[in-house]
Amino acid sequence: MTIAYTWWKDATIYQIWPASYKDSNGDGIGDIKGIISTLDYLKDLGVDIIWLSPMYDSPQDDMGYDISDYESVYPKYGTLDDMQTLIDGLHSRGMRLVLDLVINHTSSEHKWFKESRSSKTNPKRDWYIWKAPKYDADGKRQPPNNWGSHFSGSAWEYDETTDEYYLRLFAPTQPDLNWENPKVRDALYDSALKFWFERGVDGFRIDTAGLYSKDQKFQDVPIIFPDKTYQPSDLYTQNGPRIHEFHKEMYSKVTSNYDVMTVGEVGHCSREAALKYVSAKEGEMNMIFLFNVVEVGSVRGDRFKYNGYNLIDFKKAVEDQGAFIEGTDAWSTVFIENHDQPRSVTRFGNGKHHNTSAKLLSLLQTTLTGTLFIYQGQEIAMTNLPRSWSIDEYKDINTVNYYKYFKEAYGKDKDFAEKEKALMDVIDLVARDHARSPVQWDSSAYGGFSTAEPWTRVNDNYKEINVASQIDDPNSVLNFWRKSLKVRKQFKDLLIYGSFKVLDYENEKVFTYLKYQSDPESSSPKAYVVLNFSTDSVKFDKLVDGKFELVHSNVSDVVEDTLTPYEERKHREYKQVMESQNSSYKLDERSARFYETLREKELREELDQKIEETNELDKFRRLKRAVNTSSAKVEKPVSSKVSISISRGVVNTKIGKLPKSKPFSTSTSTSTSTNSNSQNNSSNNSPGNSSPENKPQGSLSELRSKRQDTPLDLVSGYSSDDGEEGG
Ligand code: NOJ
Repeated sequence: MTIAYTWWKDATIYQIWPASYKDSNGDGIGDIKGIISTLDYLKDLGVDIIWLSPMYDSPQDDMGYDISDYESVYPKYGTLDDMQTLIDGLHSRGMRLVLDLVINHTSSEHKWFKESRSSKTNPKRDWYIWKAPKYDADGKRQPPNNWGSHFSGSAWEYDETTDEYYLRLFAPTQPDLNWENPKVRDALYDSALKFWFERGVDGFRIDTAGLYSKDQKFQDVPIIFPDKTYQPSDLYTQNGPRIHEFHKEMYSKVTSNYDVMTVGEVGHCSREAALKYVSAKEGEMNMIFLFNVVEVGSVRGDRFKYNGYNLIDFKKAVEDQGAFIEGTDAWSTVFIENHDQPRSVTRFGNGKHHNTSAKLLSLLQTTLTGTLFIYQGQEIAMTNLPRSWSIDEYKDINTVNYYKYFKEAYGKDKDFAEKEKALMDVIDLVARDHARSPVQWDSSAYGGFSTAEPWTRVNDNYKEINVASQIDDPNSVLNFWRKSLKVRKQFKDLLIYGSFKVLDYENEKVFTYLKYQSDPESSSPKAYVVLNFSTDSVKFDKLVDGKFELVHSNVSDVVEDTLTPYEERKHREYKQVMESQNSSYKLDERSARFYETLREKELREELDQKIEETNELDKFRRLKRAVNTSSAKVEKPVSSKVSISISRGVVNTKIGKLPKSKPFSTSTSTSTSTNSNSQNNSSNNSPGNSSPENKPQGSLSELRSKRQDTPLDLVSGYSSDDGEEGG
């Protein structure tokens, strides 16, 4: 297999949240000069690219995701010159810079919005989304629909100046831009993208990349949370009707003209939907962030409703997040932390085994396929804020608003104290604030982040957890990360580019997987990764035969047959082995089932491809006959019978004749000859039986929509007198 190595695929990307990273001028707020002072530290860690969260001018209502000017820098962070020094400093070290691209909305302080809100006739009025109020039975003014904001309450903000509402899916001061207007798009391309590309920026992390296209009917969404007035608007705002057109345009007009990378924040989508964004042939973005892993256990649409998860759910999330790249030309991302997520060692590790579990997570991250993103402080295993802190220490608009609405709704209840405690337990686990506390550089006051009191409180544990105490300690989490990142690069064909297979889906304590280059059963090299996610000693059941060499472990004295703590602190351990000779492996039942489903999916995609080819063929035949007879009569559909048989791993397509007596029949000519994989090919639910006869030849999309009803229904034959073509 030839691997197309690409700089942004190979890269380890380190995210910096400027307000909390490093303060150089003693005002309690991080800044660009502070970042510049740490470039050698980052280079030494193994970082290739910095992703810098918004550093643009902004009122900071959403920590810079509310931009008032794309072309200038928030003065407390520095200047355009500082940015140039940062870009040059990175480039001179062979590193690169990626910025955040926030173009679903601006700040209400942006000059475009100021103009837009000034009058209904202002030329920039339709640069944002304005709607007239609705009035209820009591004549009370109401928002245009029931869409909820991601930050609680309605997604619409009333503006007295013109007696209309504007859409703002996030904070009241973050009005959504109207992407339907081509002038808006062109202005964004110039101001937000080209301006920075011309200064040497190497790409963008694209904020809320699935939200630009809103369903233009602006109708109410179905009620998902009956206890709330306003509902998640995703149905009509996420992956909307023109979203791919917009991304394609941005790519063709701007990003494709530079050697840059893009990674879009999309969140949740199916394999098919993900591929539309990131299949290379689509020409949209290089990769996307999906939230399967970071949101495992959370209720979709409400971060603070939390159900918990087990290791099996976690494995599934890891698998799903990357699986869409198997056998496709797409690429994926690996991450477990960012500025919107809590600290991974608190969420997925274990406090009693802090270092060992942090190392285990480092091994997980550095052995998964895709571009790896790590978040500031993750390399020293910074933790969530202490549970003892009150809500007053939380500054994030998302947390603050949620708490406010919660108190309004339940504050008078007798059991409010209990309810509040339950909410605080969840806030303590998943709030965004946990990622935003200042980086702990050393054990001096304020963790060495600043000489002044920081804008937000430093975690109490800065004396125990900080960079200075770890940098020279060979057993520190920091040095473990450095080694893990080196190993990732050393075996990049397997670890960065390889395929992934879980070997023990049913195991609730241990997570074992294989990384391999082509066929897992072949003799090509493989990596075997075993992670004990439990606090117990577990028998090490080797699921792979073959000769292995231990490459990296978080346990210094590995006991051959036990994944065990040698001491209390080593409950989470890891063994990774690189294979040098032939090997075989065994799957537990659940893993086997999972891979069968995956294989089915692949087969279905192959089928789609074949159908497409077949339809193309039909078109050509029609064309050929039209040319031969030079007659318009030849409008008749062409016959072709497509018979598709599936045998493990192979799709065979045959094109043959159908009986003339059945013009236009939509028969399911599944060659059910097939095997156990095709569970749904029975005639009961085939379109041939459920659809009326005499239907004209369906378009590909009609066929597809029929096919969606029945997971493995197979294709159609169409009438005719032609059919010279055989399989
Ligand atoms: C997604 C960003 O990651 C988040 O931090 C921000 O609040 C919203 N987009 C709004 O821009």
